[in-house]
Amino acid sequence: MSTVLVTGGNGYIGSHTVISLFENGYDVVIADNLANSKMEVQRRLEKICGRSFKFYNVDCCDEEALSVVFEENKIDAVIHFAGLKAVGESVTIPLDYYSNNIGSMITVCRLMKKYGVRELVFSSSATVYGMSEDVPFTEESPLGVCTNPYGWTKWMIEQILRDFSKAEPDMKICLLRYFNPVGAHESGLIGEDPRGIPNNLFPYISKVAGGTLEKLTVFGDDYPTPDGTCLRDYIHVCDLADGHVKAIQYLDSHDSGVCLFNLGTGKGTSVKEAIAAFEKACGHPINHVFGPRRPGDIAVCYASTEKAEKELGFKARYTIDDMCSSCWKWQTMNPEGLSDN
Ligand code: NAD
Ligand code: UFG
Repeated sequence: MSTVLVTGGNGYIGSHTVISLFENGYDVVIADNLANSKMEVQRRLEKICGRSFKFYNVDCCDEEALSVVFEENKIDAVIHFAGLKAVGESVTIPLDYYSNNIGSMITVCRLMKKYGVRELVFSSSATVYGMSEDVPFTEESPLGVCTNPYGWTKWMIEQILRDFSKAEPDMKICLLRYFNPVGAHESGLIGEDPRGIPNNLFPYISKVAGGTLEKLTVFGDDYPTPDGTCLRDYIHVCDLADGHVKAIQYLDSHDSGVCLFNLGTGKGTSVKEAIAAFEKACGHPINHVFGPRRPGDIAVCYASTEKAEKELGFKARYTIDDMCSSCWKWQTMNPEGLSDN
């Protein structure tokens, strides 16, 4: 049985990916410093999978501490989710974002080299396409100018990994560019659990639907789109999780080098359509008002899914209605999020 080290495996996407790996016969070791997640996630994973996973509370920037994980386990592949991801916060504390996101990636690469681990999957983002609106974005679309330090960390790490691969020709590296991950596991036991007031659309709508927040402000309804609100490619987090299993299987059966895939559905959903879908899922209206545009937003962003379908064998299964109903289940089962211990 292959063992996958999942850094950031206690977080939103990481925890769903742990389940997909487990269901596909992989053993999993998790390394997470709980910077943006709670230990309760591990208990929830145990409930869902019927077993616990080896968990290390470790900062992936700390080479000595992280080396213990490689020392104590025979790791076959690494999926590197660990990182800070709040776009607005990255503008306020850019140095923390650069040092945490880039530092953790470099540390993981050093240890993979030292311990002879050859397969790496990295969580990149559609944000690397920048402000271009030449949609759909294909893997050949030019990299753009990012609008915030968070985006630049993804852009820079992609470059670092290309350079690392040139210097270490045995390495097999897969860059996955996620579009907008939303939704929750069907059990309602794990889901997105942001600290404080959410910045992203779905966690915000969920909290308005659940009554914790009073109203949603739609950022702009004068975009050049059919209904005036921005279009995004929302992808169910469980589809995204399955995409990681496909990526590991792809690396298992391919030569070394860097490969790159978009993970999205290929379909744009507007903010108004997302609200309507959520209203259908929760059965009542979502209180919302229209406000000014949010700086840095582009009108339209969605993926070309052709390459992932053809080469990775990945196709998203879930619809926007599935995403909303799973979000709503998670929200109603965990109105205050997860407990803090
Ligand atoms: P998340 O914050 O829920 O999960 C990240 C996890 O990494 C958290 O559990 C956090 O505690 C941990 N972590 C952070 N820094 C660490 C460090 N130095 N050492 C150990 N653990 C550390 O975020 P997520 O939404 O699950 O995102 C996972 C990855 O996917 C991130 O790299 C993120 O940038 C990327 N991504 C996310 C989105 C999205 O919209 N959620 C989109 C594109 C890319
Ligand atoms: N929106 C609102 N009101 C809100 C929150 C969001 O109208 O309260 C709108 C935004 O203006 C945007 C859409 O909802 O039009 C989606 O916004 P999100 O913040 O949920 O997502 P983004 O597309 O801005 O950003 C996401 C991730 C980033 C990633 C980017 C590109 O949060 O990490 O996708 O992949 F970089």
